[in-house]
Amino acid sequence: MNKSIKEYIVSINSAIEKEHFGDKPQELYEPIRYIMSLGGKRMRPLLSLLSFQLYKDNIKDVIPASIAVEIFHNFTLMHDDIMDNAPLRRGQQTVHEKWNDPVAILSGDVMLVKAYQQIIAHCPKEKLTEVLEKFNQCAIEVCEGQQIDMNFEEQEQVHEAEYLEMIRLKTAVLLGFSLEFGGILAMDNEADQALLYQMGVNAGIGFQLMDDLLDVYADQEKFGKQVGGDIIANKKTYLLIKAIELASGENAYDLNKWLQTQDFNKEEKVKSVTAIYNKLNIKELTETKMNEYFEKAFQNLEDLDASSEKKVIIKDFFNYLINREQ
Ligand code: IPE
Ligand code: IPE
Ligand code: MG
Ligand code: MG
Ligand code: MG
Repeated sequence: MNKSIKEYIVSINSAIEKEHFGDKPQELYEPIRYIMSLGGKRMRPLLSLLSFQLYKDNIKDVIPASIAVEIFHNFTLMHDDIMDNAPLRRGQQTVHEKWNDPVAILSGDVMLVKAYQQIIAHCPKEKLTEVLEKFNQCAIEVCEGQQIDMNFEEQEQVHEAEYLEMIRLKTAVLLGFSLEFGGILAMDNEADQALLYQMGVNAGIGFQLMDDLLDVYADQEKFGKQVGGDIIANKKTYLLIKAIELASGENAYDLNKWLQTQDFNKEEKVKSVTAIYNKLNIKELTETKMNEYFEKAFQNLEDLDASSEKKVIIKDFFNYLINREQ
């Protein structure tokens, strides 16, 4: 990874380490320290720094505000892991597994409030209303996307367009907001702020397509999450939607059987559905779709009114995302 990106992540991590989330009751605050200390890519605050540096040099000034999007993201993960029945996150036990569901619900709730506190404390007053309005819209959309994702588990037919809208909401708008946030803090060019948001949405759709792909094909150690979790839960990922669309004969029969069966051996289901994906070249199709969205993001990047030397670092980061293993 690009050297400046590594330095930015070091700064983000040290700011997170210094955060004081609270002490008592410890069942409320310990899970927050736990999930925040497990690491992860720190992509969302990084995106805020990356858009900021396109226009301004004093990066250190925006680090505290940028932490808000990481706290918000970790709140969504804590609740998402309950919803998805996920045992592993960043290579460790999920909060609801290590403690229990009520703890993960309430700690997550506090994190959402903490994200707001972080914005209010560190965003310049003259920009605060605008930032909060945009953040509210984003946070509501993430919840909408998450509910649609859950609804789709039970829905037999999901069209590609419906899936793309669902991932735009649950994942991509937060990347959009993170980039726009850095832009708002740096300058007043509204056209560029809108373009930053659009770039984040396009990269975010590509990012979630890759996440779906990794959920099937990643090396569990590197991925840090349970490989095959989406298959087990009948998540209507791009992979499954394409497989349902393209399968015929024996593949269609087998796929349908795995989707209907309530009582199954998890490993066997993951293995069998993956084998069907392989026969239908689903991996390649997903990569093509992912590249399509990152191409749009690269185009947005080009259109921004900033110097090409400054843009290179964002290009590098998108390329890292395209080739990532976690
Ligand atoms: C996981 O996000 C949730 C998705 C939107 C797929 P990340 O893959 O950014 O998770 P961390 O923060 O790096 O662990
Ligand atoms: C999660 O999508 C998106 C949000 C957390 C809002 P996933 O359910 O695919 O995320 P992972 O794979 O558990 O990280
Ligand atoms: Mg989920
Ligand atoms: Mg999940
Ligand atoms: Mg996933």
